[in-house]
Amino acid sequence: MSAFAYRNGALHAEDVPLREIAAKYGTPCYIYSRAALTDAYHGFDAAFAEHAHLICYAVKANSNLAILNLFARLGSGFDIVSGGELARVLAAGGDPRKVVFSGVGKTATEIRDALNAGILCFNVESASELVRINQIAGELNKVAPISLRVNPDVDAKTHPYIATGLKESKFGVAYDDALALYRRARELKHVKIEGIDCHIGSQLTDVAPFAAAAERVIELVRHLRADGVLLSHIDLGGGLGVQYQAEENPPSIGAYAAAILKSVAGCSEKLLFEPGRFLTANAGVLLTRIEYLKRGEARNFAVVDSAMNDLMRPALYDAWHDIVPVLQAENHAETWEIVGPVCESGDFLGYQRRLAIHEGDLLVIRCTGAYGMSMSSNYNTRPRAAEIMVDGTAMHVIRKRETVPELFANEVLLP
Ligand code: LLP
Repeated sequence: MSAFAYRNGALHAEDVPLREIAAKYGTPCYIYSRAALTDAYHGFDAAFAEHAHLICYAVKANSNLAILNLFARLGSGFDIVSGGELARVLAAGGDPRKVVFSGVGKTATEIRDALNAGILCFNVESASELVRINQIAGELNKVAPISLRVNPDVDAKTHPYIATGLKESKFGVAYDDALALYRRARELKHVKIEGIDCHIGSQLTDVAPFAAAAERVIELVRHLRADGVLLSHIDLGGGLGVQYQAEENPPSIGAYAAAILKSVAGCSEKLLFEPGRFLTANAGVLLTRIEYLKRGEARNFAVVDSAMNDLMRPALYDAWHDIVPVLQAENHAETWEIVGPVCESGDFLGYQRRLAIHEGDLLVIRCTGAYGMSMSSNYNTRPRAAEIMVDGTAMHVIRKRETVPELFANEVLLP
């Protein structure tokens, strides 16, 4: 059951009516359900119960400290892609020994900080990065745990901006170069080979590419074993999709796990996963108020108080998010373009929505717990939204609404 459901015609987050949150904290705001986050985590964890595994939540999906802290308390590790994300994980009480560090552009400072924090593994994405990590680890008199992110050249069949496992992509080490690079890594004094990893893309709605990628990776693991290189873990990345609209049919967590467990049958290495969207997308909504209804010659616009700066996915990927009223209305629906106040025609949250609405009504943009707030910006000098965590009947402000003076606090006038 969704944590966001109507009761007597009023949309609730767990036991809290959303209109109460709007009245208390204003709009726009992101609202999360603690129960939904917890259930998603437990669902993923249970699906892999039969094989030793570690969930490394992909921090980029939603990096609020309270959410990281919640996952840390559930036992989660973390997949980070920057020094900033490492600092967040540490500030949230995450265990650095459960952190994997992905990304094609790790700077010397980020590598140093991660070595000093004692992370679980660097997911190395190029030969140059391997050399750099070895050198920095040497300077610090440490040995860096590494894994090579291999590019399995599998088509994830997702939006091109979020497909990462094709030959043409900037990510990972080419499949055919991986064994030679492992051999090179074996000779380096300040790195220790711990694993192998891949991540082929995000919002996958079919299990076949996951299984194909896993099988390609396992093939390399076998070659490595024959070479005498024994790995502690196999990291299969993230990417499991969620259902944004009715015609999308992402695999269930059970089907995803079954396909992967079949591909890795007979492997004793620990499995690592880096889910982001699966853990947070359905656990969050964006609450917004209608400022104006504007009937045009060709289209009717509902101008709301949230915009592309709050939720970038529609503008960037043409992503579709369900938009529903907070109070269910009886009167007949019309077709509306739901747009924000930002001065760009790309500033829309949803086109052609059938809704019965009035000025001042509250709307909810669903399934925005992942890549919503974490991709927000201050474009048009718009303070970022507040974030509220609901837990039963309790509401916790987990990020205050930004104020305008904060937005230009670091800017300096010329002398
Ligand atoms: N691991 C790595 C190395 C990644 O690059 C990503 C996502 C993940 C894990 C988590 O993937 P997930 O389980 O969330 O699919 N902004 C886009 C999504 C970008 C994903 C980038 N990498 C969106 O809003 O759809």
